[in-house]
Amino acid sequence: LASNEERAAGAVPNWEAALLEESLSRRVRAVGPAYWGAGATAAPPPVPPIALTGGVPDPETLPFEDLAEAAQTVLEREGRLALQYGGPQGFLALREWLADRVGRVDGLSLGPENITITNGSAGALANVCETFLDPGDAVIAEAPSYPGAMRAIRAQDARLETAPVDGEGLRPDALGETLEALTREGARPKLLYTIPNFHNPTGATLSVERRRAVLEIARRHRLLIVEDDAYGEIRFEGERVPSFFALSGGDGVLRVGTFSKTLATGLRVGWVAAAQEATDFLVRMRFDMGTSPWIQRLVAEYVSRGLLDRHVPQVVEVYRRKRDAMAAALAEHCAPYVRWRLPSGGFFLWLEMDRRVQPEALREAAVEEGVAYVSGDAFFVDRSGSQFTRLAYSFVAEQEIEEAIRRLGRALRRAEAASRPGAPQSGPAR
Ligand SMILES: Cc1ncc(COP(=O)(O)O)c(C=O)c1O
Repeated sequence: LASNEERAAGAVPNWEAALLEESLSRRVRAVGPAYWGAGATAAPPPVPPIALTGGVPDPETLPFEDLAEAAQTVLEREGRLALQYGGPQGFLALREWLADRVGRVDGLSLGPENITITNGSAGALANVCETFLDPGDAVIAEAPSYPGAMRAIRAQDARLETAPVDGEGLRPDALGETLEALTREGARPKLLYTIPNFHNPTGATLSVERRRAVLEIARRHRLLIVEDDAYGEIRFEGERVPSFFALSGGDGVLRVGTFSKTLATGLRVGWVAAAQEATDFLVRMRFDMGTSPWIQRLVAEYVSRGLLDRHVPQVVEVYRRKRDAMAAALAEHCAPYVRWRLPSGGFFLWLEMDRRVQPEALREAAVEEGVAYVSGDAFFVDRSGSQFTRLAYSFVAEQEIEEAIRRLGRALRRAEAASRPGAPQSGPAR
């Protein structure tokens, strides 16, 4: 690392601004700021916030001991292979396990040739987008949707259009209208990106009737469906709804999954399940030498010992309790200002704020009260949706949920008061 003296002396590498400007690709401009907000230097907040921001597992649930034991076994038994390149499609035993698992759930006959292992489902989405999208192709995403996927679509210089969701997920009628409008303009709608189970951010799950209707529309418009099932296994109640992949017999559908939400985000292991014809092209696009062979073997060892099947019901119980605690606290502390629907799975509660609460005033009050959430505009292509707020109950400690929501309630009251006509700019004291 450069010393402070060297930095002061200008020894740090540095590009001429004009050279950078004329060299950047259209694609890197299209994606917007770095996903992790690199370079942001916010002042430390007055109160350490309780974070309801990340859609990530509870750190207390991470199965360290089981993973450590599986890791040791893999290194001792097959270290030489685990520490070499493994190929772009992924470790065979893990693909076999996934093919069996997804095949059984979906009632399809799948083999390892139907699975591509990726660096998380984020890597899966990037792989799918670069395989199927040309600049200018129209892609339909739900409004709202997962910002990471919107990024992956924009990174191909594709045209990102939206179809609205309601409390039950994507509206087939609205999807049909969006597609008709695009077709009239002469655009080529290529792909639909959807999160049918426990949607991020709304928590909604699409009924089988709507799935059939969407599939029918997609068929008519020769639209591919990318079905992102990141949260599908975190189900609290109700029956599993058949996937688009199952309903279509796999034709024209790419089913994306991940171990991030059930197991651990840091593994970076996700997958795409698809017909072999499509999978061959996904694999052709890979140049990152595949996902870490060592980590894939670790995951394969873990799942083949039956440990995931034991782990998932345990974490589902944890998240169910947290969802219930958050909903009860919302009813107690925030009810006059917000509306929400109880999700039947996943990590999120999606709040619609009363118009009396101005989002900007809430943001300021929430910083002062010490609670962090994600503002709804992050999930809309046009940045509308600031009247919504996404709360994640997955990561926060269960015993902190009530306090977090009490703080949010205070912030809502202050924001509502500050938003009244004639109110002082900073809002009343507590
Ligand atoms: C809907 C959805 N898809 C994909 C991802 C990416 O997760 P990962 O790359 O860790 O599998 C996320 C993460 O938040 C998500 O919410």
